[in-house]
Amino acid sequence: MSIIVTGGAGFIGANFVLDWLAQNDEAVINLDKLTYAGNRNNLRSLVDDARHVFVQGDIADAELVARLLRQYQPRAVLNFAAESHVDRSISGPEAFIQTNIVGTFRLLEAVRAYWQALPEEEKSAFRFLHVSTDEVYGSLGTQDPAFKESNPYEPNSPYSASKAASDHLVRAYLHTYGLPVLTTNCSNNYGPYHFPEKLIPLVIHNALTGKALPIYGDGQQVRDWLYVSDHCSAIRTVLKHGRPGETYNVGGWNEKTNLDVVNTICNILDVEQPRVDGESYKTQIVFVKDRPGHDRRYAIDASKLEKELGWKPAETFDTGIQKTVRWYLDNQAWVDDVTSGAYRNWIQAQYAA
Ligand code: NAD
Ligand code: DAU
Repeated sequence: MSIIVTGGAGFIGANFVLDWLAQNDEAVINLDKLTYAGNRNNLRSLVDDARHVFVQGDIADAELVARLLRQYQPRAVLNFAAESHVDRSISGPEAFIQTNIVGTFRLLEAVRAYWQALPEEEKSAFRFLHVSTDEVYGSLGTQDPAFKESNPYEPNSPYSASKAASDHLVRAYLHTYGLPVLTTNCSNNYGPYHFPEKLIPLVIHNALTGKALPIYGDGQQVRDWLYVSDHCSAIRTVLKHGRPGETYNVGGWNEKTNLDVVNTICNILDVEQPRVDGESYKTQIVFVKDRPGHDRRYAIDASKLEKELGWKPAETFDTGIQKTVRWYLDNQAWVDDVTSGAYRNWIQAQYAA
């Protein structure tokens, strides 16, 4: 038995693969294009592990996907592969259309052909699990209830619009062809191997290297944070117990303003690795120009997943952020590796005054 994971060298995909193989012996075929966000070092601990097969390639390469399906006969395909950074989708949306929409479509087509040829029993047991985001629901006002699965889709960025399109395609493959699909819509993740273009790892990295901690606009935007291993456990739960055709919201009940998040990181660093001049890292905070179309608030109502499938997050924001800061302090070599080269060009272009 095996599963195919796409995007398994990225932040959440790598955490998922590592957690999966730590918990059971079922092989993982990991298909990843290795864009700037994919990093084989995330999977270094699996280098001699025969249960992990890494294949560099594109989910939009229908022939390659068909070959992998024929060769490994997986019982499930889990689609993590995506362009994932909202700011990059604003400065260059094309790659988001290609991978998130065209790529998901090609992957679905290859999986449909494979699935249709399976014997009846295997056909009903097969699952296509699509990993999506809460951003498809748009932005909430301060008093609005948290997103439920029944909320209408109102994506506001090229990133969220491309994810919304992929979610719709996934849904259509169940309704039209009967492919047993599952979709998860998760809130903001954080934890080990998070690429330092995103708020939490960027702030930790910039703090430790004496750089500005850039806060967009007034810093009062709200995100609902979930420690990455809790997202991984939610995906395992949905894969095992989810009902085909259903979507499941995943979140940590941890709504925080961006400014609160950055202040919390500074407080932890002030204790764990105080600045040599004795000042707080908060003195490095700088308010910068806002993200265009910046969504004000996301909040996830995860009660369907909790009540129907019995999932619960193990970490609070307090425990998860402590672990995360510790991980970055202990893994500076990983940070140094990913912040060399092309990373610098992105930071220069994005944060130019
Ligand atoms: P990431 O950017 O860290 O990793 C994406 C991975 O996909 C990389 O390894 C990259 O090389 C690979 N990839 C990109 N294009 C590919 C292609 N065409 N073919 C094969 N591989 C390709 O992203 P992440 O934060 O780990 O997010 C993973 C998934 O979870 C995405 O679908 C994202 O939309 C979703 N998601 C992310 C969050 C979050 O907070 N990070 C929250 C909810 C949902
Ligand atoms: O909600 C789930 C989504 O969370 C995922 O689907 C995306 O893939 C993931 O990137 C994340 O999107 P966000 O845009 O919320 O994450 P990001 O870390 O880029 O930003 C978090 C908040 O912090 C957001 O309000 C923008 C703000 N921000 C971000 C950066 C990079 C800043 O204030 N300064 C920054 O430098």
